[in-house]
Amino acid sequence: MTVLELREVKRHFGGVKAVDGVSLKVASGQVTGLIGPNGSGKSTLVNLIAGVLAVGEGDITLDGKSLIKLTADEVARCGVARTFQNIRLLPEASVLDNVVIGFYRHERSPLYASLLGLPSSRRETRELREQGRALLARFGLAEYEQVPAGGLAYGYQRRVEMARAVASAPQVLLLDEPVAGMNDVEARSLGQIFAQLAREGMAVLVIEHNTRFVAELCSQVHVLDGGRLIAHGSPQEVMRDPAVVAAYLGG
Ligand SMILES: Nc1ncnc2c1ncn2[C@@H]1O[C@H](COP(=O)(O)OP(=O)(O)OP(=O)(O)O)[C@@H](O)[C@H]1O
Ligand SMILES: [Mg+2]
Repeated sequence: MTVLELREVKRHFGGVKAVDGVSLKVASGQVTGLIGPNGSGKSTLVNLIAGVLAVGEGDITLDGKSLIKLTADEVARCGVARTFQNIRLLPEASVLDNVVIGFYRHERSPLYASLLGLPSSRRETRELREQGRALLARFGLAEYEQVPAGGLAYGYQRRVEMARAVASAPQVLLLDEPVAGMNDVEARSLGQIFAQLAREGMAVLVIEHNTRFVAELCSQVHVLDGGRLIAHGSPQEVMRDPAVVAAYLGG
């Protein structure tokens, strides 16, 4: 059982208390939701977990091991993968290559040497491409394998990004608005993939504004407002919490 735990985590930007004393747990085997109005600190929290931003105060641990002194690469190697609120792919590279890059979490050898098929790594590359194809199938991307990722429709680029994150076989998967801009049908089909990943043992944290999507998918939901946690519990508990209602109406 993997547990990512935040204890009294703070990160301020000048006078802005982006994250202001947040404690929460993200456990394996379930999808945990993180919601809150615009600017409430959700992406900052993900960046703190991923080691992209330095933690001001508090601690973040994965199975008891502190992550806060680690670089983003080191956090990734510990098994924490993430997607970005704004898509970040190699637009010229094929969909398959974009996903294969995700396998390199454990690699110390230069990534691009391997992708270019240098002799020492050809067999490894072939195996990774097979695994990459399996992931593409899982994310409904099989037919786009050779297409430049930048040429795909937005929703499909998001899928590529998620497949790449999953390629590293992370223990923890952080998804920052993975279904933003998708219709309900697309969102639900991705939600089913997230639920399956959780059933297979991953700890999944999903940031999302669509509360119906969160209610269907998440067993536990945390609500941020102004950098502070104002509620947590089951989606049903959280959605009827007066503080949550007020935060959303006020926002
Ligand atoms: N690098 C930064 N420098 C200064 N202020 C920042 C920085 N990053 C975030 N902030 C501020 O911190 C607060 C929280 O921002 P954050 O992006 O975490 O919110 P969010 O909940 O992800 O919002 P959204 O729903 O719009 O994505 C905002 O007031 C934002 O302007
Ligand atoms: Mg955000």
